[in-house]
Amino acid sequence: MPKNENVSKSVIRRLPRYYRFLGELLAEGVTKISSRELAERMNVTASQIRQDLNCFGGFGQQGYGYTVSELREEIGAILGVEEHHGTIIIGAGNLGRALAAHFDYEKYGCELCGIFDVNPEIAGTSIVDMKVLPMSDLDSFCSLNRPDIAILCIPKSAAAEVSRRLAKLGIKAFWNFTHYDISLEDIDGAVVENVHLGDSLMALCYGINNKE
Ligand code: NAI
Repeated sequence: MPKNENVSKSVIRRLPRYYRFLGELLAEGVTKISSRELAERMNVTASQIRQDLNCFGGFGQQGYGYTVSELREEIGAILGVEEHHGTIIIGAGNLGRALAAHFDYEKYGCELCGIFDVNPEIAGTSIVDMKVLPMSDLDSFCSLNRPDIAILCIPKSAAAEVSRRLAKLGIKAFWNFTHYDISLEDIDGAVVENVHLGDSLMALCYGINNKE
């Protein structure tokens, strides 16, 4: 396993993109690629690619390029996508249902194993093949299934209390769609990834306004 201590967050943030492009190359039957060709495809510089991958000890050989399957596997190992982290969704409203039904968790190293909602009219309904469970089942479910990741799709007002409860139940990572800033102290060192689709849209608006 390559060393990945002291690697900057910006490098880590670029790894999923490498992983995705390498997957596309494999699907096209490409087995080897130089950093220059990969850079052209990804619209970055070859030196950026070499620098990024050198953080993990470098994978390619001078003048030979990268073996696509090996590089993808190594990056996948760094990202932990082969680990099948148990994942639960909290809140089965519009967003929670969409994420339950239309997202390929296994492709990203996760396995959706539970969906919860506090509303008794929603608990008991099904999304795809999965039954939405009541929040009263959360403790027993977590002690039995030991999920690592919780996806928060609940109102902002409920996020603090629910995330504290989840951390106590052993959740190690939060994919937080609520617009609440989870306090890291409350969740005892778990990792948080905040998702704000609006930020991406605003960046697009900025792009329109500042187009040359
Ligand atoms: P929704 O109202 O359709 O669904 C929320 C669900 O959470 C409901 O089914 C409700 O019964 C359940 N719920 C409420 N309190 C709960 C609790 N304590 N425990 C478990 N379940 C509980 O809302 P929607 O549209 O699905 O949005 C969900 C959240 O995601 C909101 O906070 C919204 O602001 C946010 N959101 C964020 C986006 C982003 O880009 N970050 C995009 C869209 C929504």
